Amino acid sequence: MSESKVALITGANKGIGFETARQLGQQGMTVLIGARDAAKGEQAAKTLQAEGICAEAVVLDVTSRASVDAAAETVGNKYGHLDILVNNAGVFLDWGTSAFAVTEDVLRQTYETNVLGPFRMIQAFLPLLKKSPAGRIVNLSSVLGSTGLAADPSTVYSKSRGAAYATSKAALNMLTVAFANELRRTNIKVNNAHPGWVKTEMGGAGAQMEIPEGAQTSVRLATLPADGPTAGFFHKDDTLPW
Ligand SMILES: NC(=O)c1ccc[n+]([C@@H]2O[C@H](COP(=O)([O-])OP(=O)(O)OC[C@H]3O[C@@H](n4cnc5c(N)ncnc54)[C@H](OP(=O)(O)O)[C@@H]3O)[C@@H](O)[C@H]2O)c1
Repeated sequence: MSESKVALITGANKGIGFETARQLGQQGMTVLIGARDAAKGEQAAKTLQAEGICAEAVVLDVTSRASVDAAAETVGNKYGHLDILVNNAGVFLDWGTSAFAVTEDVLRQTYETNVLGPFRMIQAFLPLLKKSPAGRIVNLSSVLGSTGLAADPSTVYSKSRGAAYATSKAALNMLTVAFANELRRTNIKVNNAHPGWVKTEMGGAGAQMEIPEGAQTSVRLATLPADGPTAGFFHKDDTLPW
């Protein structure tokens, strides 16, 4: 059994996930770099190790139950518990596409990663999270998944397109609440993070925020104190509307 906190971040080979692993690692945690491509995961872990961080790659394709179950077994065998799960892996396949033009296939692929991915991860890792004195689950949502903001015609969000992505994040929001409610009497907290519009491969070069700042919300929710919130939707310290 490891003595330092153990954090697993999905989609951590690049972008916000990689930076979240770095910032949690800088706090002295052991960080497990979830990556569907083994070589990319190893490379990311090596980069963090060179910075003095205790990092290890874990092969993890969140669209595959077999991959998720195998990762849970690996982590269980080596560490015996998990303190932090950051469901960061995500795809945005219909950026700028009208809801009328989104195909069923794109909708299905998006839900596989953005909704069923975190669902599978939470179910598979719950036994390990229950062994932590202070389990924390962070789901990477998006302000684009706020139904309230999108339904208000005075907001920019009512003009944004990408119904597969937006509805997947709205579904993830409710999944967060459903799991948080199930876990209210435990030491485990489950919250949604909106990172901001961040300059990653997904966010693009025109985004407002640099990656280190984009990881702050995930890190804050991953390290909430015992009296911190659960079932919330946050950007930094601000609560977002559902
Ligand atoms: N960037 C933004 O402005 C922004 C805003 C709001 C919310 N978010 C959310 O923040 C999270 C991270 O976004 P990002 O901007 O860092 O995106 P990114 O740079 O595109 O990175 C996405 C990560 O997810 C991984 N991934 C995709 N499908 C996967 C799968 N099936 N199994 C495992 N990993 C998978 C990717 O792996 P590969 O390298 O193998 O593709 C990559 O590591 C996402 O959930 C996103 O929706 C981002």
